[in-house]
Amino acid sequence: MSEESYGPRTEAWAALARHAGVLERVPIVELFDRDPQRGRRFSAEAEGLWLDLSRQRLDSRALQLLLELAEQTRLPDRIERMLSGERINNTEDRAALHVALRRPAARPLALDGEDVMPLVEAEREKMRALADSLHGGSLKGYTDRRITDIVNIGIGGSDLGVVMAAEALQGYRLPGLGVHFVSSVDGVQLDRALRTVDPETTLFVVCSKTFTTSETLTNARGVREWLLQRGGADAVAAQFVAVSTNHRAMDDFGVAQGRRLDLWDWVGGRYSVCSAVGLVLALAIGWQNFAEFLAGANQIDEHFRSAPMDRNLPVLLALAGIWNRNFLGAANHAVLPYDQHLHRLPAYLQQLEMESNGKSVRRGGEPVECATAPVIWGEPGSNAQHSFYQLLHQGTDPVSADFLMPVRSLVDRQEQQDLAAINCLAQAWALASGDPAAGSNADPHRNYAGNRPTSLILFRQLDPATLGKLIALYEHKVFTQGVIWDVNSFDQWGVELGKRLASRLQDSGTSEAPPPIIEPALAKWRSWRG
Ligand code: F6P
Repeated sequence: MSEESYGPRTEAWAALARHAGVLERVPIVELFDRDPQRGRRFSAEAEGLWLDLSRQRLDSRALQLLLELAEQTRLPDRIERMLSGERINNTEDRAALHVALRRPAARPLALDGEDVMPLVEAEREKMRALADSLHGGSLKGYTDRRITDIVNIGIGGSDLGVVMAAEALQGYRLPGLGVHFVSSVDGVQLDRALRTVDPETTLFVVCSKTFTTSETLTNARGVREWLLQRGGADAVAAQFVAVSTNHRAMDDFGVAQGRRLDLWDWVGGRYSVCSAVGLVLALAIGWQNFAEFLAGANQIDEHFRSAPMDRNLPVLLALAGIWNRNFLGAANHAVLPYDQHLHRLPAYLQQLEMESNGKSVRRGGEPVECATAPVIWGEPGSNAQHSFYQLLHQGTDPVSADFLMPVRSLVDRQEQQDLAAINCLAQAWALASGDPAAGSNADPHRNYAGNRPTSLILFRQLDPATLGKLIALYEHKVFTQGVIWDVNSFDQWGVELGKRLASRLQDSGTSEAPPPIIEPALAKWRSWRG
């Protein structure tokens, strides 16, 4: 990229920095007073999602400059390059073509001159066959009993997306089906799952793009051992399914040929929930619902590609984030869904945003010249109001936040969902406006300064299509920010050193003298471990 199109070096960036100095002194309430059209000007609706940025600390000039920043960093061209299969993951020489995973099969998408859609469709067919046989009752274990439980074994991108989605779409799950997730290496989830399920009626899905991830292989070996002891090789052959790019490792592990689903290097782990990694979700909610989930994501892909920048939801959400992070100094961003179904959304977005954009070097290897991804955290808002909202209202550090709010209850308790909505709106109001009157009554403990920036994402109900839309919305938000920051949003070299040192500790045992930096802790651990 040319240096003039690097975000922090653009004219728009310099103008934004100057303008932030002006807006610093303007409370959000005053922005509303100044502009009666603010609600309309700072909100946008597409594909059933309504994005309200009116309580961001933005005025029309700031928004205009942010849109110029998007233009000056050549965002439209970069979107086109991603969507057309260019190898934009430059450090791994790979494309980032997760949009293919939710694209209709009949619409070709070329990668290196070859249409990838037949590959995608072939895996969809395998997923569909498994999901249909499970829901139709013909998916059986080695003793010919019906499958009643599924255990997904995977971590990071092979876990967080499917856990989040399976929780979010709980109401769409096949009744009576047990769905379990095993990710962490400490054995706690594995132990719990194996105590719960019946070896004759449980399907195990091992998800690992690389099939080298130590946590996943450790858990998968634990399951294989458990199953071998109970049903022998027949049980493993009948009840083990694997999703990976690595066929050799699946051979070594003993996954039957007909029990494999494919993935490709152009699908990043944290962008893989719409691929065969989503198998456990398709099994849980059935193929029709999974197809709707894919279609929802595809709608936002199309919107991202074609909507003008000033009406483009992922772009607007990303620009609000850039403003808060780079010009208002918010190093923290909270995700606050007002629907308990979305309780794992913050964890999923932590990986999506922080693993993608938590970088200190640019795509070309030069140091970045601006702050990149903020720290992402959150909880369902209703609970969070009674824990950390104190800090949001009165803490010393600026925190930006996204509120997510469905209108309709999916558990037939509309009045309670309405109460959740009212709380969400009241919090957005309180954070933005504060309470100047309370401040003037001379009790500083009751002072609410306000001016805390938040976005609101409103949708009718959390159905499969809407969840697909929300995922694509955030994926493209992350991409947009990565373009402006000029970081590679599709690699994750930062996680490698820790993995390497863990292997070293494991392999060397007591034969290698540990370096002083870890020696005291290692010695104490060993002495207590015995
Ligand atoms: O260690 C990080 C990571 O590589 C993530 O990017 C990835 O989602 C996760 O591990 C799991 O990887 P795999 O699917 O290859 O097991």
